[in-house]
Amino acid sequence: MSVLELLDAAEDVGPQAPVLELRAATRSFAGDPPVHALHQTDLVVQAGDYVSVIGPSGSGKSTLLNLLGLLDRPTEGEYLLDGIPTRDSGERERAALRAGHIGFVFQAFHLMPHRTVLENVMLATLYSGVPRAERRERAMSALDRVGLAHRTDFLPTVLSGGERQRTAVARAVVAQPRVLLADEPTGNLDSESTSAVLDLFDELHADGLTLLVITHDADVSARAQRRVRIADGHLRELT
Ligand SMILES: Nc1ncnc2c1ncn2[C@@H]1O[C@H](COP(=O)(O)OP(=O)(O)O)[C@@H](O)[C@H]1O
Ligand SMILES: [Mg+2]
Repeated sequence: MSVLELLDAAEDVGPQAPVLELRAATRSFAGDPPVHALHQTDLVVQAGDYVSVIGPSGSGKSTLLNLLGLLDRPTEGEYLLDGIPTRDSGERERAALRAGHIGFVFQAFHLMPHRTVLENVMLATLYSGVPRAERRERAMSALDRVGLAHRTDFLPTVLSGGERQRTAVARAVVAQPRVLLADEPTGNLDSESTSAVLDLFDELHADGLTLLVITHDADVSARAQRRVRIADGHLRELT
């Protein structure tokens, strides 16, 4: 199937399709013995949900996020993004789905050190087909939204951790994704910056964005509307 056919198929499913849906999905890593990083999992995230997944180191959080972000595939089971089955999708389709549907935020920011804040955010729409002037406008507006309109010409290296992560959030939302996936987004931040990033997540959620935030921090987890715990690759709803 081409990407356009996939997107059409998504529309046929209608607005009721969950944004994210794991169906009996597992992820194991070969080895002696093999690692069952994610046991059989059903997870449905609806449009507008704000979900946190909390668990200790090694519990399977990143494994889960990699599946949800189409960075990895389940060993068994199916994963649907916006109602689109992805089990048999090729790498090009997955890349297109990622670009069109998902914004990522990682613990380590992953900003380009020699590009300005504005350029970093603009890079997220590089292959979107949108003219450069419009991409610039959208990046400015995303940076305004995260409170960094006064830092657009700075290099990330001179920013505080909190400002770097807010830049990463602007980059994640500039293409208007269906969902924001965050893996330990506050893991490198002090409490003040953590609080600023969590306030920003609240605002994005209030604007209708779907969020899934992975964390080992109970305070971060508590900010979500719906909380899920992961332990040894097993998920359990907390609320
Ligand atoms: N590529 C891999 N190969 C083998 N084992 C892996 C791989 N990735 C993760 N694991 C194992 O799967 C388990 C869950 O890892 P991970 O999802 O990274 O945990 P978390 O993000 O919660 O710290 C751990 O036991 C880890 O060692
Ligand atoms: Mg991890």
